[in-house]
Amino acid sequence: MHNAKAYSAGSATSPLASTTIARRDPTPQDVQIEILYCGICHSDLHQVRNQWKEAMPTVYPCVPGHEIVGRVTKVGSAVTKFKAGDLAAVGCMVDSDRICPECKAGMEQFCPNFTLTYNFPDKHLGGVTYGGYSDSIVVDQRFVLSAPSNLKLAGVAPLLCAGITTYSPMRRWGVTKGKKVGVVGLGGLGHMGVKFAHALGAHVVVFTTSPKKKEDALRLGADEVVISKNANEMQKHERSFDFILDAVSADHDIGAYINLLRRDGNITMVGAPEKPLAVPVFGLIMGRRSLSGSPIGGIPETQEMLDFCGQHNITADVEIIPIQKVNEAYERLLKSDVKYRFSIDMASLKSE
Ligand SMILES: NC(=O)c1ccc[n+]([C@@H]2O[C@H](COP(=O)([O-])OP(=O)(O)OC[C@H]3O[C@@H](n4cnc5c(N)ncnc54)[C@H](OP(=O)(O)O)[C@@H]3O)[C@@H](O)[C@H]2O)c1
Ligand SMILES: [Zn+2]
Ligand SMILES: [Zn+2]
Repeated sequence: MHNAKAYSAGSATSPLASTTIARRDPTPQDVQIEILYCGICHSDLHQVRNQWKEAMPTVYPCVPGHEIVGRVTKVGSAVTKFKAGDLAAVGCMVDSDRICPECKAGMEQFCPNFTLTYNFPDKHLGGVTYGGYSDSIVVDQRFVLSAPSNLKLAGVAPLLCAGITTYSPMRRWGVTKGKKVGVVGLGGLGHMGVKFAHALGAHVVVFTTSPKKKEDALRLGADEVVISKNANEMQKHERSFDFILDAVSADHDIGAYINLLRRDGNITMVGAPEKPLAVPVFGLIMGRRSLSGSPIGGIPETQEMLDFCGQHNITADVEIIPIQKVNEAYERLLKSDVKYRFSIDMASLKSE
């Protein structure tokens, strides 16, 4: 075991603060990574404040962070994929059982026995796993990704959650040229959804509650922008969408979007609001429309997404912050005031 610097929350109401945590020494299969950047996902905030207490109660102290990019410092004797000095990335999962049908299909995100990067039972040290708001992490090579070397690392980190969570459902639902695709909520996930839908050739419409984000949405790749509070603007798009990705973090009227789908259209929830949403079933019935959800993505698809980003020069638009500004960043997330992902420069942890 060795010590690592980190930021943790002690309770649902306390701010994140500097701490020291234990990390395991690398086993033969492990990769030790010096973390250079970690994105701030809205899920970190939900989890730190115990807003998902029914599905995933938070164990304190909680060290969040699952958008990790860094450099390999040490590898175990059986590691073949990485060597010291390589770039490496870690997303939302650090382990799974590897033997179930989901793992065999490369869809570890559905493994009934997976281990999430933080707030999950730690098989090695006991207690719970600690995430990427830290200067280092030790992860089994199977769950370590290769980061493209041609991209700016601060903008690569958010691909590990915001990227794969939007890429995966778009591939699943056949987003391509000739399709009309909506993205609801221009935050961390939403802005990646816009970039992917555009790169896949679709006609992209952004729905936002923030009129001041209109110019950015167009720059990010949207063909049209709708201010969702404007009923007239919404109505113009009735029955026209093949696919809508809903990336909203709070309660909202999902029925308004169901009505914008064409026959057999699909709306996929990636946003995970604290409280259940009301679903008007007639909207689903009348157009034979469907409502789905989608969690992150498997390891092979995450690598595919990273390679796609390398080829198409796609990164998240980030505001780089020192770790000392993390609590302020959370407050700004709650006000939809981020362009479009906070990425923590982990060098800032050295002064703690
Ligand atoms: N399914 C998964 O695997 C997965 C993975 C990661 C994250 N998530 C979840 O996805 C959600 C979004 O995460 P994020 O990191 O992208 O969050 P974020 O950066 O805070 O973006 C959320 C966006 O939702 C919109 N929004 C916020 N409050 C709203 C309200 N009351 N009504 C309507 N729109 C509102 C805002 O966009 P506008 O300003 O454009 O309206 C905001 O920028 C979170 O719930 C997160 O936990 C799920
Ligand atoms: Zn996330
Ligand atoms: Zn499994």
